[in-house]
Amino acid sequence: MSAKILDGKQIGLEIRQDVAAQVAEFVAGGGPKPCLTAVLVGEDPASQVYVRNKSRACEKAGIDGRTLRLPAETTQAELVEVIESLNQDPAVHGILVQLPLPKKGNGGSGFDERAILDTVDPMKDVDAFSPVNVGLLMQGRPRFLPCTPHGIVQLLHRTGLSVAGKHVVVVGRSDIVGKPMAMMLAQRTGSCGEDVANATVTIAHSRTANLAEVCQTADVLIAAVGVPEMITADMIANGAVVIDVGINRVGDKLVGDVAFDAAKDKASAITPVPGGVGPLTIAMLLHNTLMAAKLQQQ
Ligand code: GUN
Repeated sequence: MSAKILDGKQIGLEIRQDVAAQVAEFVAGGGPKPCLTAVLVGEDPASQVYVRNKSRACEKAGIDGRTLRLPAETTQAELVEVIESLNQDPAVHGILVQLPLPKKGNGGSGFDERAILDTVDPMKDVDAFSPVNVGLLMQGRPRFLPCTPHGIVQLLHRTGLSVAGKHVVVVGRSDIVGKPMAMMLAQRTGSCGEDVANATVTIAHSRTANLAEVCQTADVLIAAVGVPEMITADMIANGAVVIDVGINRVGDKLVGDVAFDAAKDKASAITPVPGGVGPLTIAMLLHNTLMAAKLQQQ
């Protein structure tokens, strides 16, 4: 079998066009131009590219995409102050603090990342990292959904792949992807209805015994570990759907967490890297920014 390649780039484009149309409608109805401000501390080259891409995507959707650049030597107190002033600024609807923050000794003064993220007003928290938004998701009444897992739900929905009643194995337990992904797919009703919810979910991780055997039981396998090509073809059941969240730089190449070439002969559908999950994350960020602008109108 050769898997259907799930084209995240195309689906991301469709979502971005939907968001652009909704932004135009919101503004035509008297709403303010939605504004996302990304806070970029330091000079990390990958973060600079990510932030530039986010800002460009905003502009294309009719959203004001601002970037606030701060030197790596910025202190915790200074960064908190910057975020608090963005919290107070009525022209800013969404705030995103680009991660990772610079490490101590690497030009940086050392940050308590958790405390920084906690400073973002939950009503402007378009990453959905604040404890309020995480808690609302846990309780099945989400406000903002985290962008990467939400993008994956959209990808499954828009390709007609139901997970209801199926066994989903999420490999990785990060706050950004693994944990919220598992929660979203196990809910009774998801953001795209009952078909992309109601899954039986296993969260696997680096301490899981017999990881390969656990993965082999997955109808849908979601890899979010950040280890290049860790998921090999022998870990994938024939006909499984494979979603690869990894973006790992190996030499001058980007590779996922899944060994794609062999995996595509086992899976029924698979996301490529790049061009799979990545473009969906940005699309959902735009969606959240519009939502933030709407919430702040109320
Ligand atoms: N760095 C890598 N991914 C992300 C993300 O989704 N949000 C933020 N703020 N930083 C990131």
